[in-house]
Amino acid sequence: MAFALLPASSLWTRHVILADARASAANIFEFLADAKWWVRTYLPDLNSAIEIGEAPIELLVTRVRSWVEAIEENRPTLFAGMEQSHALQVLQVFGFVVGSIERHLQGTGAKLGDGVGRVPGPDGLLLSLGAIARHSPRDSHYTFWLTNNEEPILTFTGNAGEVFFNKVVNETQLVLSDVSASVRDIRVAEENDLGRAAVIVRQAAQKVVGLHGRYREYMLRDPKTGERNMTPEFFMAKFRQYLLPFPVGGVLREGPNATNTTGWPLLDFLVGTLDEQYKDTVSQRFRWMSEIDQERVRVEMHMPSLAERILDLLEISPEMLQAMTQQQIRAAAFGSGSEFMALFDAYQALAGAALRLSDIHISLIMNYLVRPSKTIDPATIAKCPVKPVTGVGGNNLEHTFRIAEMRRKHPIVRCLAAA
Ligand code: HEM
Repeated sequence: MAFALLPASSLWTRHVILADARASAANIFEFLADAKWWVRTYLPDLNSAIEIGEAPIELLVTRVRSWVEAIEENRPTLFAGMEQSHALQVLQVFGFVVGSIERHLQGTGAKLGDGVGRVPGPDGLLLSLGAIARHSPRDSHYTFWLTNNEEPILTFTGNAGEVFFNKVVNETQLVLSDVSASVRDIRVAEENDLGRAAVIVRQAAQKVVGLHGRYREYMLRDPKTGERNMTPEFFMAKFRQYLLPFPVGGVLREGPNATNTTGWPLLDFLVGTLDEQYKDTVSQRFRWMSEIDQERVRVEMHMPSLAERILDLLEISPEMLQAMTQQQIRAAAFGSGSEFMALFDAYQALAGAALRLSDIHISLIMNYLVRPSKTIDPATIAKCPVKPVTGVGGNNLEHTFRIAEMRRKHPIVRCLAAA
């Protein structure tokens, strides 16, 4: 195992680690390259060894301590003109190591924040980095997934399931962000060629179907190894445990949570699956989003959805739609011309694909958390900082089930999609 190359925390070892950190901390690029190399090479094995009591947590504490000390010594040079993206990357590497320390300590019953407290200094440093990065002073969905795509990616566990999760979150973000951009002009009636609009919406539907295929792959087995792409035991008892909340600067901070990515709300706003409660829920997530993401989500939340655009073209109000039979809706669409009909069919394909994507996500929650939580032994659950039947931030799953139900039963989208 790679951690065997790191002997226990003798003074000599600490001295060497600090000398290494000092040498690279003279320059931000060198520091980042060395720190990422260390996380890639040693952290996963070290985490596994600490989890089973075969390596001391001190190996991680010494690493963070030396990074903090070396950065503080070089602070004037390093911080002068530090760019937002550099600060975010420093938060990324600290996030992996500080999060690991917290995970191991909380796993043995220590208080939240005892891990950060074990290392003098990172609190203040993380706060300064957070201010430059305009980001929470710890890791997040940006550092853990969206900007973690340089191969091989950084991981807590080195497990193929963690890598697979990273790929699917990144694909979700790319595909849904792209789909919502492609349909924008149709929603605001700047694209009035309905034939072209039908082609764009049909392509969007195909992309969402493709994404659904990726979510199906979680449970599939790799033909070469016979292993699932991600096993429920790994997800529930190992992987999520590293995404735990802990305080920085005296304030409890949530860590990486895929809930805070913008792709899904953008898809909802374009399809039209939203209500006041959902708008409120998404607005509550703004505090975890960058300014650019917040702005985009805010704009798209208030833009007419594709469902509203279709009703406009049909000259039917939402109230009238709900009073109509499926045959009457279909007849009205048919009477609006062949190009409109193509757009209507494409919208139905898109709304159906979006609903299936939401439904498979709920199936994954059932398969990866709710069902296995019933068979895991209570002693293991007691040691899990992140409990199986909550979100990583501690939210009740009922909230997520309500969102899926809102999509399934949306009064307007359901009428349009079923006609
Ligand atoms: C095995 C795969 C997955 C499992 C078991 C899973 C589990 C969960 C859980 C437990 C929640 C509730 C979290 C909370 O309330 O804090 C949640 C919500 C959410 N997850 Fe996942 N997740 C998976 C994959 C993904 C992926 C790949 C994405 C892509 C970005 C994603 C995006 C979301 C979003 C946006 C929510 C908020 C609720 C919603 O809009 O439906 N999830 N997920």
